[in-house]
Amino acid sequence: MASAIIVDGLEKSYGTKKAVNCISFNVNQGEIFSLLGPNGAGKTTTVEILEGLRERDAGRIEVLGMDPWRQGYELHKRIGVIPQGFSFFDKQKPVEAIQYYAELFGVKVSAQKILEKVILEEAADTVFEDLSGGQRQKLGLALALVNDPEVLFLDEPTTGLDPQARRNLWNVIQGLKEGGRTVLLTTHYLEEAELLADKVAIMNHGEIMTSGTPEEIVSKYGSGKKIVIKGGEGVYSAIVRSGISGAFRNDNGEVSVPVRDRRDIISLVTSIESAGVTWGDIRTEEDSLEDVFVKLVGGTMDEGELRSKGVREGNSP
Ligand SMILES: Nc1ncnc2c1ncn2[C@@H]1O[C@H](COP(=O)(O)OP(=O)(O)O)[C@@H](O)[C@H]1O
Ligand SMILES: [Mg+2]
Repeated sequence: MASAIIVDGLEKSYGTKKAVNCISFNVNQGEIFSLLGPNGAGKTTTVEILEGLRERDAGRIEVLGMDPWRQGYELHKRIGVIPQGFSFFDKQKPVEAIQYYAELFGVKVSAQKILEKVILEEAADTVFEDLSGGQRQKLGLALALVNDPEVLFLDEPTTGLDPQARRNLWNVIQGLKEGGRTVLLTTHYLEEAELLADKVAIMNHGEIMTSGTPEEIVSKYGSGKKIVIKGGEGVYSAIVRSGISGAFRNDNGEVSVPVRDRRDIISLVTSIESAGVTWGDIRTEEDSLEDVFVKLVGGTMDEGELRSKGVREGNSP
């Protein structure tokens, strides 16, 4: 498959601060690629370099076969961008904003069609200052679509939105992929990357800790599949007595047992059944991308947690 974005050994410092430290990744055409990382990880810096808005210090990059810094003018006709913390003129309506952008790009568009694509028809005539957070982000997307771009850069498009608005935007982003567009999405929401992205790169302190499909990352760094059985001491000791290793009791009155294959499940159930102990619901569990993230980055990306640590929303840590 052809690459829409190639990043090879990219580096960028601000003064003595190394914001991006030799990162590499590839995004295929038609893929959603998510740069996932906490505030200060270097996501925006990376995205701005790819958009041709910032010069890199070192490394090779290509977007649609072009060098964004040297061929910015050509590139900007073919990409769409929502900057982090997108905002617009208070008194302008989405329809007017789209017309304004269309004039800047010298293209003819149907504002109505674009608003339909981002599911914002109902607010076509609402001035910007009266739009909800989710509607504002949809307008950002609408404007990014005016030039019918092949690649979209969405820098934290859902940060600060309520769960419903976030889900709405996910639908829109999914629709863009279905329309064949390539999307580079930065986020600090694990579930967003897990749900939307074909490939993810987990970034921290300017470096990519790991990248791949969410499944690949989970199977590489996760602790594998577990069987969780409702049951107390009796269940636990029956399992231990039968020689199955690695069982432990969690705080919810359950016993967790790592499993390698289906036979482990059968011997597990047989051992507790033949011990005659009472056992309840049984389910399988696997680490989520979030569990793996916590291992790799050493913290959760939950907004509440970020806030309780005094980390501000936005660009600066
Ligand atoms: N214009 C700038 N001048 C100086 N330092 C910056 C600038 N922009 C970002 N940084 C620093 O570079 C690092 C990466 O920032 P950024 O790329 O915005 O990360 P992210 O988007 O992942 O939050 C942070 O430590 C940030 O403070
Ligand atoms: Mg950022």
